[in-house]
Amino acid sequence: MTSEFTSETIDASTTAGTTRVGLVVGSTRPGRKAATVADWVLDGVRAHPRVRSGDVEFAVLDLARVALPMLDEPLAAAFGRYQHEHTRRWAATVASCDAFVFVTPEYNHSIPAAVKNAIDYLYAEWHHKAVGAVSYGLAGGVRAVEHLRTVLVEVKAVPVSAQVALSVFDDFSYANPADPTDPGVVAARPHQDAVLQDLLEELLAHSRALAPLRGSARRQADGAGDHDSGSAADPVGADGGQPVGAL
Ligand SMILES: Cc1cc2nc3c(=O)[nH]c(=O)nc-3n(C[C@H](O)[C@H](O)[C@H](O)COP(=O)(O)O)c2cc1C
Repeated sequence: MTSEFTSETIDASTTAGTTRVGLVVGSTRPGRKAATVADWVLDGVRAHPRVRSGDVEFAVLDLARVALPMLDEPLAAAFGRYQHEHTRRWAATVASCDAFVFVTPEYNHSIPAAVKNAIDYLYAEWHHKAVGAVSYGLAGGVRAVEHLRTVLVEVKAVPVSAQVALSVFDDFSYANPADPTDPGVVAARPHQDAVLQDLLEELLAHSRALAPLRGSARRQADGAGDHDSGSAADPVGADGGQPVGAL
């Protein structure tokens, strides 16, 4: 299976009128399962008519490649004044997306530190954006997603209910099951594909419903005229000034 992790997929450009979904790849570990899970998600959503028609596009936001240091901004993100170039880049990338799907493993009953760190870096850029999760772990990663949802609400993102929870035992196949360095490949049970389609439907419906809030936040930010951080609701004009979430 080919990887979708090309450099083009983490830039901040987008096509006007297209709903852009950021696929956040939440493990930075060498030998991670996250890459095969992300590929499975991309393969699955490609079948959706709105993805096929180009109305919805996915951009891979691979945290291993984004490579943020542990949070090093002097001010909390809620102030919207970012000092570092890596923060401005991440802000522009997140701001360019209308919604997100997080691919996340469960680490010690929660999300990986890299996922929490990537969220903590920003604030306004997450506002009013629907978020779905595709998790995996010994118990499907469900405990990680419970934590993820709590964190996302604090940055005014909107988690959806549908969730794909892949079992590392039942939804992957391994060339050598005894080898702990083999990440395996996703070989999901049939119902998981249907759940992924449900997740996408719910995500797009919520994204559409939230579009007026995103538009109003952008107008407020424009009115305030405070663009010194490049991090307010419309930080880089990455959507070309078009209404966001045109579904
Ligand atoms: C630091 C760490 C903690 C883990 N904790 C859990 C856990 O609490 N629950 C669970 O189901 N799996 C846990 N696992 C197993 C992971 O689900 C499994 O290793 C998975 O492949 C990790 O995703 P990744 O390969 O994409 O990094 C843990 C793995 C690591 C590396």
